[in-house]
Amino acid sequence: MSNPLQDVKQLLASAEGPSRKALLGQLHEIIISIETPEETATRISLYPLQTSAARIGQDLKIFQTLANSGPKSLQELQDITNAHPITLGRLLRYMASVGLIREAAINRFEANKKCQNLAMPEAITILTHFFENCCPLFQEMPAFLRNNNYQDVTDGKATVFQPAYKTDLDTYTWFSHNPEHRSALIKYMAMEQTVRGRWLDEYPIERDTQGWDPKLPVFVDIGGNIGHYCAQFKERFPEVPGRVVLQDLPDTLAHAMPTPGVEAVAHDFFTPQPLKNAKFYHLGWVLHNWNDEKSKQILRQIRSAMTAHSVILINDMILPEAGVPAFPASLDMVMLGACGSRERTMKEWNEIFGDVGLVVKERIMYNRELCHGILGIALA
Ligand SMILES: C[S@@+](CC[C@H](N)C(=O)[O-])C[C@H]1O[C@@H](n2cnc3c(N)ncnc32)[C@H](O)[C@@H]1O
Repeated sequence: MSNPLQDVKQLLASAEGPSRKALLGQLHEIIISIETPEETATRISLYPLQTSAARIGQDLKIFQTLANSGPKSLQELQDITNAHPITLGRLLRYMASVGLIREAAINRFEANKKCQNLAMPEAITILTHFFENCCPLFQEMPAFLRNNNYQDVTDGKATVFQPAYKTDLDTYTWFSHNPEHRSALIKYMAMEQTVRGRWLDEYPIERDTQGWDPKLPVFVDIGGNIGHYCAQFKERFPEVPGRVVLQDLPDTLAHAMPTPGVEAVAHDFFTPQPLKNAKFYHLGWVLHNWNDEKSKQILRQIRSAMTAHSVILINDMILPEAGVPAFPASLDMVMLGACGSRERTMKEWNEIFGDVGLVVKERIMYNRELCHGILGIALA
């Protein structure tokens, strides 16, 4: 007799890319469709506890220990973590109850797939960043919006971030005083470039740089963090002539990757762009941190350094008018809470460019599932 669950498992094991995501979505809908109202409300209400437990599990290296060294007794885990046996036992019991690890026998635990996944370095980077830099925003957001009558949130100095982190500072200034949080962001950004770096395969860089003057800047990465895109640009296009320059705030540049041939120059993008007549000025996940007025200020500073050959590469999300997937919609909420800013649709991008005298020359969606796009914009 056929086993439908087994069939679904097999289907999932062989599915890839968008079809895998679609299948996961459908399965999720099936599960939700049989939940009672109490089950839905309870699941959603208690989900933050799973996030906390996952963070504790990573702090105590429980996932790595079980994934890398095999099943362990409570006593063995206590010896490794130095946690009190009662507290540790309760934590492990909770983790097993929500499937973060598996309870193999009384007081004995082993890794399951979730545990193995949570033990991976990329999972640690993702969870650390979202837990430390975003979860307090999610907790504070309802009260903030209620207190502000659900008005449009556009001020990075008066958004959810300030009450959530009990500060008057804007996010990036606060990060500069809180290096652990900044380091979590830097690591997450560096990791993200494995997905977002794909724009370099899609944009016609070689076509547009033929005959470029080697004395002029060819790629200026503004707000380029520790320089992962500059490094990729150099690696991917070693023959492209011209200077490759990383710009960011001094605190971030202090952690810059040393890449031969890449210059690191401290620059505040609200001040005049010192590098004139570059081919590409790249803004990766920069404008989504700023409201429309601030975004226009940043673009104007670049515009005044451009010539007819220059192109600003906007590497940001381009949301569809409807049906925005969960991850881009979630990041939009993070932008609201962290920066009083937003992810944008093409219409919203065009309004900004039009006001600054810029026009879109190239538009490439390099990951539709995540709404990642790159826009080449030039003087109008
Ligand atoms: C969200 S991160 C994006 C990093 C990188 N461009 C990427 O795509 O992965 C925003 C970057 O803007 C930088 N930044 C914030 N304010 C800045 C300012 N006023 N001038 C220059 N860089 C700034 C931050 O240090 C950070 O590296």
